[in-house]
Amino acid sequence: MTSPLSRRAWLRTTSLGVGAGLLLPGALPAAPAPVSWSDPGDIEDYARAVQRQRHVAGPARLQSNENPYGMSPRARQAMTDAWDEHNKYGTPSIRVLRDAYAKYAGVPAECVMVTQGSREVLCIAALTFGMRGADILTADPTFEALPQYAEHMGLTVHRVPLTEDHVHDLNAMDQRLVSSVGLVFVCNPNNPTGTLVPDATLRDYVVSTAKRTPVLVDEAYHDYVTDPSYRSMTDLVVKGENVIVLRTASKIHGLAGCRIGFAIARPDIIARMQGFTTGVPNALAARAAIAAVADTEWQEFCRTKNAEGREILRAAVQTMGRKQSVSHANFIFVHAGIPTATVQAALAAKNFTVGRAFPPYLDWVRISIGTPEEMHALVRVLPDALRA
Ligand SMILES: Cc1ncc(COP(=O)(O)O)c(C=O)c1O
Repeated sequence: MTSPLSRRAWLRTTSLGVGAGLLLPGALPAAPAPVSWSDPGDIEDYARAVQRQRHVAGPARLQSNENPYGMSPRARQAMTDAWDEHNKYGTPSIRVLRDAYAKYAGVPAECVMVTQGSREVLCIAALTFGMRGADILTADPTFEALPQYAEHMGLTVHRVPLTEDHVHDLNAMDQRLVSSVGLVFVCNPNNPTGTLVPDATLRDYVVSTAKRTPVLVDEAYHDYVTDPSYRSMTDLVVKGENVIVLRTASKIHGLAGCRIGFAIARPDIIARMQGFTTGVPNALAARAAIAAVADTEWQEFCRTKNAEGREILRAAVQTMGRKQSVSHANFIFVHAGIPTATVQAALAAKNFTVGRAFPPYLDWVRISIGTPEEMHALVRVLPDALRA
């Protein structure tokens, strides 16, 4: 059921409105009431209300590369409308979501597998391709979920350092492609650096490597990239290459807490991976994700705000004369010159949480992009924090 509340009335009466300051210490923010969304001109208003709630809920969270604006009002509405499905498994909605993701990625539906967050794709890939003891090859540092899971399985992980510019060193990775490797993992843009491998270079590498072993390309931050030369690797799946692409609803779609992700691969690879899933995604989250993927207006809003916030931080770090990676994602990797933990503590005292250390970069800090207002506030305290 769609709420009869107007959006403005809703803002006045819920925790996203001005009354949000009444939240008790330690209490979870109240769940916002349904919002009827019909006026796209209100996006800025809505985003401001979300931001007010964000501040009431505690420090500005700049540590996990989440979307500071959360899910779109349309996704919020879809999830609320789905409430009466809470006692049923979500299989029908997940089928609809799979079709929606296929359309969004430009691939046939049988090339898509919806999972409980994209971390599940990474674990499933380690199981599918490493189960019989094959090695994993990846860059270092990169998103650790897959390599760490593989190591817990007892697999050998070959880690190839990034270049000085924090980009994947594909020549070195090629040299490390020994016959025992059963899966190559490439994160593009890379986490924690945000760097991109130029399209043609990555494409050549993936195509030639995939002739020998499957390649998983993690595109969690795909939607934040504004560089016109960037292209997804999904077309290689359509061409029948031995490639798996990962995407998630956690980033620009704002659903990190709802746990939806997906894999894109040839149907035979999807069928192999399907056997290793660990459960069925959440029904209400699936309904929100269907609305989120369709809401290109919200995605564009979040992409634009992210680019604005990223530029505020990039320019400030440059003015401070600090090194930083060239980020195409919703975070920047900054040279602190002092231990990451010291920076974390200094910024926590100013009400900002930032990323942990990523060995071997023990004096760098990964800062997620919050709202432009948060980034303006952050850069005011950053010089002192980096001197701490
Ligand atoms: C590169 C990358 N891949 C995958 C994930 C997993 O995201 P999720 O499980 O929320 O979809 C993350 C999370 O931050 C990430 O940075």
